[in-house]
Amino acid sequence: MNSPLNVAVFSSKPYDKRTLLKHDNNPNIQLTFFESRLSEETVSLVSQFDAVSCFVNDQLNHKVIKALKAAGVNAIALRCAGYNNVDLNAAKEIGIKVYHVPDYSPTSVAEHAVALILTLNRKTHKAYQRVKEGNFALEGLMGFNLAGKTVGCIGTGRIGLAFAKIMLGFGCNVLCYDPEPDPELHSLGVSYVALEELYCQSDIISLHCPLTKATHHLIDTASLQKMKDGVMLINTSRGALVNAQSAVKALYDGKIGALGLDVYEDEGSLFFEDMSEQIILDSVFQLLLTFPNVIVTGHQGYFTDIALDHIAETTLENLETHRLNQPSERQLF
Ligand code: NAI
Repeated sequence: MNSPLNVAVFSSKPYDKRTLLKHDNNPNIQLTFFESRLSEETVSLVSQFDAVSCFVNDQLNHKVIKALKAAGVNAIALRCAGYNNVDLNAAKEIGIKVYHVPDYSPTSVAEHAVALILTLNRKTHKAYQRVKEGNFALEGLMGFNLAGKTVGCIGTGRIGLAFAKIMLGFGCNVLCYDPEPDPELHSLGVSYVALEELYCQSDIISLHCPLTKATHHLIDTASLQKMKDGVMLINTSRGALVNAQSAVKALYDGKIGALGLDVYEDEGSLFFEDMSEQIILDSVFQLLLTFPNVIVTGHQGYFTDIALDHIAETTLENLETHRLNQPSERQLF
């Protein structure tokens, strides 16, 4: 299988296109860009392609994967680490290989989680607006010292590790939960504890585990009840780790004191698009935006120059590996 590979690149924004083209010096990889998401509605765009390249909100369910195979596609090259949007069983059964980009830049997401913490705490977004309007009053801007606070980190893989290291640098006590503890992190001074203990001890909780059946709505009314009153909750992982309706209720009750979200359960129809001229019909999302102690960013944790370069380089490497029919540890099965 050494002939050139024709690749349909879905969800490709101008910055994706620029970065992929900057790194694509392989005449055997031919990229065609589609701005739209891949879904049951758009899969008909795929004809005469050997592979597709997709992102976090492309819909790769059984029906789409079957349609891709029927159109001659043999590989899906994800431009992301998470793969919860791909029906891997269907891909395996139907015979399409799936590749991902596991560690393009863990620090980019970890640093964004910290940016959300610092902004929620010291209210720099509000201070910026006030000062622009000549309002130098401090009432309402008071924060707390991070040093000495207890930070719970759920999931200590690549991103959780980077996050925990930063929080240790701030002088926080870091409690971690992961079914597979990291000995390096343990030696740096974090404590691995049971999830229940992490919930009840932490002033700040940050989620860094993947979205799986086991972690779907990990944060719901029951788990929130176990947390400290006024806890700060940060989710830069995947939206459905948090039951958004439970979070709204906990914000009303004061159980959640501050909420920072880079991801949202139903972000697929919102994020990565300019929706400023449209009415957003998701009432839970709209409600979240009304709270003064909630910050939502539109899945930009990964969005740094280095990360985009690594995503492009690795995606192109994955496609070349597939073209040459070589084994790859970035192939998901
Ligand atoms: P990773 O695979 O290196 O680490 C995930 C860790 O979660 C592993 O150590 C695993 O043992 C642990 N884990 C699995 N099930 C768990 C559970 N039930 N409770 C606690 N921990 C559990 O993944 P990485 O690179 O650290 O990424 C984590 C997640 O971050 C990805 O799955 C993805 O959803 C998200 N992400 C978000 C981005 C953004 O732009 N906001 C960008 C990249 C990734």
